Amino acid sequence: MTELDISQRKLKHLEACLRPEVAFSLQTSGFEKVAWPYHALPECDLEGISLETTFLGKTLQAPILIGAMTGGAEKAATINKHLAEAAQHLGLGMMLGSQRVMLERTEARGSFQVRSFAPDILLIGNLGAVQLLKGYGPDHLERAMDLVGADGLALHLNPLQEALQRGGDTTFSGLTARMQEVVTSVSRPIILKEVGHGLGKAVAREVSSIPFASLDVAGAGGTSWARVEELVHHGKILHPALCDLGIPTATALQEVREVLPDMPLIGSGGVYSGLEMAKALRLGARVVALARPLLPAALLSTQAVIDTLEGLIFELRISLFVGGFSSLAALYRAAAENPL
Ligand SMILES: Cc1cc2nc3c(=O)[nH]c(=O)nc-3n(C[C@H](O)[C@H](O)[C@H](O)COP(=O)(O)O)c2cc1C
Repeated sequence: MTELDISQRKLKHLEACLRPEVAFSLQTSGFEKVAWPYHALPECDLEGISLETTFLGKTLQAPILIGAMTGGAEKAATINKHLAEAAQHLGLGMMLGSQRVMLERTEARGSFQVRSFAPDILLIGNLGAVQLLKGYGPDHLERAMDLVGADGLALHLNPLQEALQRGGDTTFSGLTARMQEVVTSVSRPIILKEVGHGLGKAVAREVSSIPFASLDVAGAGGTSWARVEELVHHGKILHPALCDLGIPTATALQEVREVLPDMPLIGSGGVYSGLEMAKALRLGARVVALARPLLPAALLSTQAVIDTLEGLIFELRISLFVGGFSSLAALYRAAAENPL
């Protein structure tokens, strides 16, 4: 695949992600099966509920990251600017989209440069883990972070997406050992994430000795990247059952947490309401992330992204209040002491 192809493909991904068909239809994120307590005598004040937390050494005003989305095209620069300004305004974190295009094509770099809009945020870079088997090493990861001023970097695993992509990278043999080698040699925090089909107990066990700073389960139930890929290539979903494979986000959180109880987890994949965020945190996530629901707002303006996120924060705070949790710390405590 040429570098120009990558950039054109990014635009097609963006267009596809605005279509409703990219959402899972055969399974859900599983949060509807997680009961949330209702406490009619909360003994705390809604306004006093602090959502502040720390993640990877930085303070967040709420436990929310803008999920990894884009970069590499002109439209992506606008999207990233709006997302970054909103993150700065609200004190949230932001994950960038895959930076491979910017490592391979200098013209693509501008669209990833968000530090000037968001000098203080927790900013996470992104690369495909499979690139580690195609010549990328610790220097590429460090460079990707240096070029954008990132605090850490997420490596994404996406075998289903790659398998359904024409010319996708489907050689994964040896990746666990290679990740061990590379991650051990990088000084900043490295996160392992999926892209919407989920990390479960098997992966958690396989990577348990790799010094990842966090795992982002990116489970099934939100955006199906297999569906995105099929829409981009065929204009329709050809393999619906395959496209909806994956570990529902709620299950993914429970599984990974059971294997790696001390690992800070990111709950993402169809975490689209404040109540779902609260449930993900109750299941053991340290923070949550969401991607596609922010895309329409990010195409519009910074204010539209702020409004969307403020709506979610409003719901999250109310969920804690009526659940009888006086702070995020109290919710973390419940998750640690009484795992669901
Ligand atoms: C437009 C768009 C682009 C994305 N690009 C990337 C990417 O470059 N790297 C990555 O790791 N994940 C990428 N993702 C996947 C998301 O980070 C996330 O894991 C997935 O969409 C599931 O979350 P959601 O249900 O909140 O959308 C992208 C998602 C969207 C919507």
